[in-house]
Amino acid sequence: MGIGAAAGVAAVGGIALDAEASGGSSPASPSDALVFDPDAYTELTTTVTDTAGAAHSVTYHFWKAITYVADPVDAKYQSLNVSVPVEIDGTAVDASDAPILFANSVGGYMPSSVADATGIGGGGTGGGVPGGGASGSAAPTASPSAPGANGNTNATGGALARNQLLALAAGYVVVEPGARGRTLRNSAGEYYGVAPAAIVDLKAAVRYVRFNKGRIPGDTDRIVSAGTSAGGALSALLGASGDSPLYDAHLRELGAADASDAVFATGAWCPITDLEHADGAYEWNWGGNVTQSTGTTVDRAVRAELRSRFAEYQASLHLKGLNGFGPLTARNYDTYLVRQYLEPSATAHLAALSDADRTAYLAAHPFIGWDGETAAFSWNDFLTHVGARKKTAPAFDAFDLSTGENNEFGKGTTLARHFTAYGLEHDTTGVTAKRLDSDVPGLLRLMNPMYHLVEKANPHRSKHWWIRLGTKDSDTSLTVSANLAAAAAGLGDDVDHLYYWDQGHGANTDPGDFITWIAGITGHRTERR
Ligand code: DHB
Repeated sequence: MGIGAAAGVAAVGGIALDAEASGGSSPASPSDALVFDPDAYTELTTTVTDTAGAAHSVTYHFWKAITYVADPVDAKYQSLNVSVPVEIDGTAVDASDAPILFANSVGGYMPSSVADATGIGGGGTGGGVPGGGASGSAAPTASPSAPGANGNTNATGGALARNQLLALAAGYVVVEPGARGRTLRNSAGEYYGVAPAAIVDLKAAVRYVRFNKGRIPGDTDRIVSAGTSAGGALSALLGASGDSPLYDAHLRELGAADASDAVFATGAWCPITDLEHADGAYEWNWGGNVTQSTGTTVDRAVRAELRSRFAEYQASLHLKGLNGFGPLTARNYDTYLVRQYLEPSATAHLAALSDADRTAYLAAHPFIGWDGETAAFSWNDFLTHVGARKKTAPAFDAFDLSTGENNEFGKGTTLARHFTAYGLEHDTTGVTAKRLDSDVPGLLRLMNPMYHLVEKANPHRSKHWWIRLGTKDSDTSLTVSANLAAAAAGLGDDVDHLYYWDQGHGANTDPGDFITWIAGITGHRTERR
């Protein structure tokens, strides 16, 4: 990207690359700058409570705030932390061949930094107000008018930190990368964390880990990405776009390590992805509820137009539903969601309750039929149960450019842009262009995992997918993750996707199962010495 890079930094990168190209192993070469120092850790001990409630004492080595590119735009964000368990409940463990959980903490497409963390799980977004840059590049400021309205919140913190701690206690290596985000602005007023900065950063971080194979403990061929919401979207994108050449120029500009950025497996919780199609999908899913949770009423004409766009898009994907469902269309997707995901989700929830609690739940929710084993209900009753929609219409490309996603597609000194033709046509901010800016279609490909799965069938994609979503999460359409799952499964990948009954945005109610899943797909058994 380099939107916010000081010219001097970029020049240093150019010189360093030249030195390497001419065959010298100059100390200024990016690869030398990116050598991980195995000795530069501190030893920490933490207590991890497992999913059964038992406490475990874990001693681990902690490497903090390692800049993962040779020419950072802002090292505060382009840094990662590494945690490696060495002793669990008093027994030494060897994590040198353990899977590597690569857990981002991005939320809301905001900047996320791990630089100030004092141990594992301490990273996160700057809460919308990123602090000053510690990198020597121009100090970033949060835009005073950065959008983020429309209910976009960061719900990542707790859920992901849980994955990280459980992974550590299971004997895995945990890498926590920071990444630039949409609100970062340099002294020239340029937004240097907008698309595709976050995904380029995460790829650079993966490359750094692989480049340091043998120096960073863990199996660099068993990197498992994880993230929630916008972080889930980026995790899915990391999985789908592994080693795509589309990012090469961006990665070169940062002085990223020369290594593969493919990941072995992908965990994505409530991914807010497929952004350019999400407005139609949102109206298809939640559009029946014309009243938003804020009480605002949604324009019925806008809703109808967006719904018809969803039907066209869904047909164009040519996806088949799991378990032999057949082609997924706007007409049958309600039945598909109910059968494939929602009824099984309610069934699992009810089956886990005590008899008394189940009876009480069913009495309070008479729309659910229960034959003693399985739950049954209609799509319309389910929608009524979820209630008011969270977002207005359009949910993502707002006519007034007010969403976080409009900011994510900002450029240079422009805070926010449209990224759909429909949003542009109905712009209320005085944008007169008849077409989207010419760079936008390319940016959308860089940001959308569906492009890499459906159009490219990227052979270097992750082949294992763990996808989770709450049934009451109306931050995006329930079809978004179901389409992701159907696309990956359609390519023959191993997909584990379920919905958490009655859970909202950011839920992660089966983190122990995720850790077990990682052991299963990697064949890993923790070595205790
Ligand atoms: C997130 C939530 C949203 O509703 C959205 O549009 C983008 C991101 C989030 O929680 O990361």
